[in-house]
Amino acid sequence: MSNDPKEPLLLDHNYDGIQELDNKLPRWWVWLFYITIIYSAIYLVYYHVTRTGDLQAAEYANEMKIGEQIKNGAMGKFESTIATLQPASDAAVLESGHQTYTKLCAICHRVDGGGLVGPNLTDDYWIHGGKYSDTVAIIWNGVPEKGMVAWKKNGLKPNDVIAVASCIYTLRGAKLLSPGKLPENQAPVKTGPSQFE
Ligand code: HEC
Repeated sequence: MSNDPKEPLLLDHNYDGIQELDNKLPRWWVWLFYITIIYSAIYLVYYHVTRTGDLQAAEYANEMKIGEQIKNGAMGKFESTIATLQPASDAAVLESGHQTYTKLCAICHRVDGGGLVGPNLTDDYWIHGGKYSDTVAIIWNGVPEKGMVAWKKNGLKPNDVIAVASCIYTLRGAKLLSPGKLPENQAPVKTGPSQFE
């Protein structure tokens, strides 16, 4: 830069030889600046003076409400189809059901389905009905007062329930390594592929 003292834009300070030109700001930059000021005034009136717009917390609550409605709709739709469901035989579905079973259910129903706190799932005795759809319904809704978890509220989606119920369906009549839990006074029902009773 020129050190010419006649340079009209040159300011008179000088730091270690570095000097400053008092350039005019470009018009477009100045306009951006005005626009932000106007925007902030509108924002202030809209959100904080007239309170026309929702603030973050209210927006979050609204979105959660909409999400809840969508979820309830999907759950209701699934519930209305339970009675007509058939067990899946697809290997990938059964495998994912088996993983869910091992992770969440084996702790109460034993790894092989023989029963511990929860009843035996391999015999022909069922407390809540032995149809596949009964199994789906009981996994979905649970029996909280008896200690069976309502899985719709505990992280299983309809497809997970279908998969794990299909996996349980394949356990019917399974040969157990050690005797399973005895039935609790129910009448036996022939329900699946089991030749057990
Ligand atoms: C905390 C223990 C516990 C866990 C975990 C559990 N259950 Fe149960 N389950 C029970 C009990 C207890 C019952 C018996 C309920 C009753 O007496 O009405 C039961 C009943 C059932 C029944 C009905 C059996 C019948 O005879 O009608 C099915 C099916 C079942 N559970 C599947 C599952 C599946 C699938 C999972 C995992 C996703 C699971 N349970 C996890 C405790 C458990």
